[in-house]
Amino acid sequence: MEKMDIEPDLVYLNTAAIGLLPIKTRDKLIELTQIHSKSSTAGFHLEYMDTKWEKFQLDAAQLLNGDSQGIVATNYTASGLQIVADGIQHKCKYGNIVINDLEFTTNVYIWHQLAKRNNIELRVVNSKDGRLLMDEFEREIDENTRLVAVSSVQSVNGFRVDLKRLSKLVHDVGGYLIVDAIQGLGAVPIDVKDEGIDFLSAGAYKWLLGPFNTGIFYINPLLIDELDTLLVGWFSDSNYIELNNRQFNPWPNAKRFQPSFYPYFEVLNTSIELINEWGIKKTYSHILKVQDYMVDEINKLPNYKIMSSLEPNERSGIIKIDHPDYKNINADLVRNKIHITSRFGGLRISIHKFNHFEDIDKLISILKNY
Ligand SMILES: Cc1ncc(COP(=O)(O)O)c(C=O)c1O
Repeated sequence: MEKMDIEPDLVYLNTAAIGLLPIKTRDKLIELTQIHSKSSTAGFHLEYMDTKWEKFQLDAAQLLNGDSQGIVATNYTASGLQIVADGIQHKCKYGNIVINDLEFTTNVYIWHQLAKRNNIELRVVNSKDGRLLMDEFEREIDENTRLVAVSSVQSVNGFRVDLKRLSKLVHDVGGYLIVDAIQGLGAVPIDVKDEGIDFLSAGAYKWLLGPFNTGIFYINPLLIDELDTLLVGWFSDSNYIELNNRQFNPWPNAKRFQPSFYPYFEVLNTSIELINEWGIKKTYSHILKVQDYMVDEINKLPNYKIMSSLEPNERSGIIKIDHPDYKNINADLVRNKIHITSRFGGLRISIHKFNHFEDIDKLISILKNY
């Protein structure tokens, strides 16, 4: 089935950089662009958009096992993280925020900026051999911790932190957990309720196989009134059709965080529908099967070292392998139409639902020459 939905022209093992757009999603994008150019308001009328919006909230909530009232469409991972940074700053003054040294820059800079503006201490948990250990978080989290920001899957090596234990640590001191889920959502199961996630943000252009400039933000609906809503617009108001300049009256749900009209969330939803159709658990077990095969094959090669944790609870769609000649290997891979990411002294290989053993065979046929 997936062969029909996604048709790469090359061996694509690079979803952690950018995902492939499924055919259905591409067609939906073309359809909406056609409406925009030919009939605009005839297609984008508000009643129609409201129905699509509810469907989007339900489908996105299914992905996360969240409450649909806590879902809003965004443009990037950064936008969702920023909603929290803006909304929570009044609660963070003189407290501390905990991040870690594996994080991708976006999930660092936003907290640096927040800390700088508000007299907040930023604490950095140090990783050990590419892993984030609970003891290290325990050492940094205290009664002044207002927020812990962490990625569900680390971009650098695919490490997956124990979110359930982490949320317990931060909730015990009255803080919140925010998860950057861009490297996991769409491939690795996540359960915001069971794992105690307060806020989650994920751009859609990687594992969700969505279009650029789209993403999902989730907030536990019980926390909506605890966040200030700094960026608001006509669409954030619960009676936005009225359009008169009275006092702002926000939506009771997460929609208040969306300042403007945004028809292209429907394109994103086409990808989400496909991911839900595949089923996250099935997708993840497919990923592990292909990954196990790859790991076995790489272990037969003398000069490569697997840098990612293979512990069952710490795995994801990403495997990092090191080799002293990684730059030349990558150049060779590109010449042979095989795409991965070459960075941080090694090769980062991403496997998604559309990848198969044959992709790995082609990869190994190049790797074995080094
Ligand atoms: C963990 C992580 N967070 C955030 C980003 C950037 O997200 P966005 O461009 O959606 O803001 C990336 C991109 O690689 C990432 O790996």
